[in-house]
Amino acid sequence: MAINHPSFGTIADNRVIVFDTTLRDGEQSPGFSMNLEEKLRMAEALAELGVDVMEAGFPIASQGDFESVQSIAQRFAKGGPVVCGLSRSAPGDILRAVEAVKPAARQRIHTFISTSDLHMRVKLRMTPEAVLEAVTNSVSLARNHVADVEWSAEDGSRTDPDFLCRCVEAAIKAGATTINIPDTVGYAVPEDIARIFSMLRERVPGADGVIFSAHNHDDLGLAVANTIAALHAGARQVEATINGIGERAGNAALEEVAMALRTRQDVIPFSTGIVTQNILRTSRLLATITSFDVQPNKAIVGRNAFAHESGIHQDGVLKDKATYEIMTPESVGWTTNSLVMGKHSGRAAFRDKLSMLGYTLGDNQLNDAFRRFKDLADRKKVVYDEDIVALVDDEVVRI
Ligand code: KIV
Ligand code: ZN
Repeated sequence: MAINHPSFGTIADNRVIVFDTTLRDGEQSPGFSMNLEEKLRMAEALAELGVDVMEAGFPIASQGDFESVQSIAQRFAKGGPVVCGLSRSAPGDILRAVEAVKPAARQRIHTFISTSDLHMRVKLRMTPEAVLEAVTNSVSLARNHVADVEWSAEDGSRTDPDFLCRCVEAAIKAGATTINIPDTVGYAVPEDIARIFSMLRERVPGADGVIFSAHNHDDLGLAVANTIAALHAGARQVEATINGIGERAGNAALEEVAMALRTRQDVIPFSTGIVTQNILRTSRLLATITSFDVQPNKAIVGRNAFAHESGIHQDGVLKDKATYEIMTPESVGWTTNSLVMGKHSGRAAFRDKLSMLGYTLGDNQLNDAFRRFKDLADRKKVVYDEDIVALVDDEVVRI
């Protein structure tokens, strides 16, 4: 059923809202904090990437966070992504977030409270009834100020199902337009996530008038798989961060979710507004700003994501890229794939590399150069172009 949303109007049933939280949950990972200017540069890049909602920060957390959210809201005063501020359920938190997002053309308040037994008893020291009351009061207060209100059940995936239904019902009755069920500690497996979202959509009155949202942490490396499971079970908002940064092991990586949807339309038939060609440069900007490199084998944006070293793979890619590439490097912003020369490389890639470097060799010369290249590759991890040039320079004929 198509939903009429205060920020987006009528949303087609297969359209997924991308909620980026790089500037809030992402920034909460140790060493990743950003200053105002850096946050503004990231906000600009995220808007160009096509995110629908940008969680700009947690305004009550510090004066700096408040100012960052407010500046980003000012930047998008005339349009752009929905600018969201996070708040706990206390009235002071909510009002601070309201003030921070006010300049934005489209504003959202995201308010949360823990709902699991463990969190309520140990962290909040509140009874379930008091938590339910806080849900109603916090969402009502936020709704008095903005039309677009998201409510989150912190530690939702470890919450008693009946109590979770009661909380979600209270949030919807109080006016929440998005219901987010975080897997706060990355404990859930895809089957858990599917069960929770299906249950809420079936059992909670009013569930068909709101957007359900998935917010998964990556402690077991399942954040992206869980996010896709949530979509299959009816969620239509995904919360994610660039490069998957976030508390502990991080959040679902935005680029991975976006490309899984684009690449596997046959089994995940949903669309987003993400301009995938901008993915790599957004990832690189974040790495530069935070001074944290992306791991080489990171899906989509890692240095090796489109690099081939083994001879068998290089030979295949030279014949037809589709043999070992499931998406084109260009579709996520790389200019090309790369054939990395090392001890696993084969003769076909070596010949291709020589031709790129401007050399043509007869069969005997090629055999000899290839043997010396293999000797060198056994001693060096990666053989660079200049090594190959030095290797063949004295015995070849330049084109
Ligand atoms: O992981 C979490 O539970 C959160 C909430 C504040 C949404 O980040
Ligand atoms: Zn989180």
